[in-house]
Order: sequence, then structure tokens, then C-alpha cells
Amino acid sequence: MPLPDLVLRAFVPADTPAICRLYAATTRAINGQHYTSAQVERWAGFAADQEGWCTRLGRNRTIVADLNGLIVGFAELEPADEVGYVYVDAQRQGQGIGTRLMRRLLLIAAEGTATQLHADVSISAMPFFAAQGFTVVARTEPIVCGAAAPRYRMTCAVPSPPA
Ligand SMILES: CC(C)(COP(=O)(O)OP(=O)(O)OC[C@H]1O[C@@H](n2cnc3c(N)ncnc32)[C@H](O)[C@@H]1OP(=O)(O)O)[C@@H](O)C(=O)NCCC(=O)NCCS
Repeated sequence: MPLPDLVLRAFVPADTPAICRLYAATTRAINGQHYTSAQVERWAGFAADQEGWCTRLGRNRTIVADLNGLIVGFAELEPADEVGYVYVDAQRQGQGIGTRLMRRLLLIAAEGTATQLHADVSISAMPFFAAQGFTVVARTEPIVCGAAAPRYRMTCAVPSPPA
């Protein structure tokens, strides 16, 4: 899917408000299809702590998908072999943005020593991670806001860097 103007770049602190807005809106629109409203509102509410987000995004390897100055997705590697949040704007799902972000994370991981990437993944995102080559190694059902919130532990081999 061609998005010729899409640029992947490193996070800068000024991105934080837009990322927090994207996170809250996408959580409500996409994850809201699979979890209870109380769960979704709890997770979306994390976006209020912008200072905490700025610190965490800056500490992780965070890649931002930037479309003509508009942030349409972001992905985190924390610190070398754990995938953190991978989020795409709810209005721009299914256009290949998530795939481009994940490929970039795999390239970054390949520069280090990790041989496997790991991720804790929602039901909403499990098919996407499977399409990226991740496989499920465990399924858990933590109780969140009084109801089970199924999650998957998934892993993927890091490709070897070109010789
Ligand atoms: C998961 C997410 C990042 C995927 O981003 P995206 O830009 O829509 O993904 P892509 O367009 O690159 O999709 C690539 C492939 O993944 C698969 N896929 C993506 N979403 C899917 C879904 N809901 N159901 C089934 N397959 C899906 C498809 O095979 C797709 O390929 P196709 O379009 O050729 O069929 C996005 O849906 C999202 O933001 N979800 C909410 C947040 C979330 O749960 N993040 C992950 C945990 S932190």
C-alpha cells in the first residue's frame, strides 16, 4: 500500500501530546471492539500522564510514523528485545503503517544482540503480530476492572543482519 509521504523517524519529546491523543483514541476505537468499556477507559486514561509517557518513550527506542507532520503511528522497543506499544491512528488502519513500524523495530533489533523479539499482545493486535511472523507462546487472562482481559505472549526471530 503506497504511502509515499510517510516517514519513519525517531521520537522527540514534542511528539508526546500527539502520541497520547492517538493512543487514547485508538484504544477506544480499536481495542474497544474486544474489551469491556471499563477496561478500555482505564487503559485510555493512561494517556493523561504525558510526563510519564514522555519519559518512557524517550527511554525506549521509539519510532514515529509521520505523514506530512501528522503522527499516524508509533512503536517502541524496550530496551533491546521487548516490543512495547505499537499503535496506528484508528482512521488509518490497514494501510501498512503498522507493518512498516514493525519492520523498522526488527531492523533496529538486528543491529543489537537480540535473537528473539517478545511482545505482550491484545486480542485486537494478535492477528497483526501473527502476520509479522510472531507466534503465540502463552495466553493469559488477567482480571482488569472485574473482567478477564485476554493477552498473548508472542515471539519472533530477529533476522540476521546482511553480511
Ligand atoms: C495492530 C495495529 C498496530 C496494526 O496496524 P495497521 O497499520 O492497521 O497494520 P497493517 O495495515 O500493517 O496490517 C498488516 C497485516 O496485519 C494483519 N492484520 C492487521 N490488523 C488485523 C486485524 N484486525 N485482523 C486480522 N488481521 C489483521 C493483516 O494480515 C494485514 O495485512 P493485509 O492488510 O494485507 O490483510 C493496529 O491495528 C492498532 O493500532 N491496533 C490497536 C492498538 C494495539 O492493540 N496495538 C498492539 C498492542 S500494543
